[in-house]
Amino acid sequence: MFETISKNFFMALSQSKTLNKAARKWGLKFGASQVVAGETIESAIEAVKKLNEKGLVATLDHLGEFVTSREEAMEATDYCIKTLEAISISGVKSGLSVKLTQLGLDIDKQFCVDNMKKILETAKKYNIFVRIDMEDYSHCQVTLDILRELRETYNNVGTVIQAYLFRAYQDVKDLKGVPLRLVKGAYKESPEVAYQDKKDVDENYLKIIKEHLFSGSYTAIATHDHNIIAKVKEFVKEHNIPNSQFEFQMLYGFRTELQLSLVKEGYKVRIYIPFGNDWFGYFMRRLAERPQNVAFAFRGFFSK
Ligand code: FDA
Repeated sequence: MFETISKNFFMALSQSKTLNKAARKWGLKFGASQVVAGETIESAIEAVKKLNEKGLVATLDHLGEFVTSREEAMEATDYCIKTLEAISISGVKSGLSVKLTQLGLDIDKQFCVDNMKKILETAKKYNIFVRIDMEDYSHCQVTLDILRELRETYNNVGTVIQAYLFRAYQDVKDLKGVPLRLVKGAYKESPEVAYQDKKDVDENYLKIIKEHLFSGSYTAIATHDHNIIAKVKEFVKEHNIPNSQFEFQMLYGFRTELQLSLVKEGYKVRIYIPFGNDWFGYFMRRLAERPQNVAFAFRGFFSK
């Protein structure tokens, strides 16, 4: 009961354009700095360096939501390019994650594709992989269409498939050979398109992970769920799938002990590091996912 109310409450906050815009001026608040690596490229690169020292690799995400003008989308594109340059100059081990809506998808599809091409040209020059995050269901098909178009020219790009969607299994089959990040899914979707029960989502999650691994495709298993991780470890051992064919991924600031223990066991672990002043929506989605996170948000609130 508390969980449902809390989930709906924080999801609603995450979608508030007014709060998202206002929060850009507040600086990181309510404990957000535990899960967002500062507001600048420099602070993000510092965070990557620290993780690299511990044997973890990263993917950087310059946060940005509700982009409604071409100027904002072009600024976001330039910022991605600057981030790629900073990764290259500093020599840190990191990829880049982007959201197509941030690059103008809701304004004009071709404009967004052109922005992605600029990012991928730079990334190719520096040998950096770019992951297109998956957003809500209304953007799913168009994201996959754009991915296919980009992959005709670039092999340093992949995307994300969300296990809560009924279509996930077929999408994974169709994307054989494409490096995919597989997740449970973070948005609130309708029962017409998505499983609503955790048990069904978990079941479908394991099904798509096995499918992608079995097809020989590079697979990023992005979860904090130790049960899923344990089952993946069993599966790869049973089928002699080499460690070089997959990696685990987790979010910055979450389950740090588990991250390090996987590294010690010899697995590749990549940390998704969000940064920037547009932190509010991201932070609210993390609170929606896990009521326990609210406790640390309140601690952060009172300590500021
Ligand atoms: P879930 O939240 O179902 O938790 C399962 C169990 O794991 C819990 O019951 C608990 O026992 C344990 N657990 C989880 N978190 C814990 C914690 N912090 N401490 C202790 N125990 C914990 N989504 C999306 O829609 N599009 C995207 O592009 C991405 N990208 C992405 C990248 C990366 C690197 C990650 C890790 C996740 C995403 N996601 C995402 C988010 C994803 O879809 C999902 O919402 C969250 O990862 C939460 O689901 P989990 O699989 O982590 O486990």
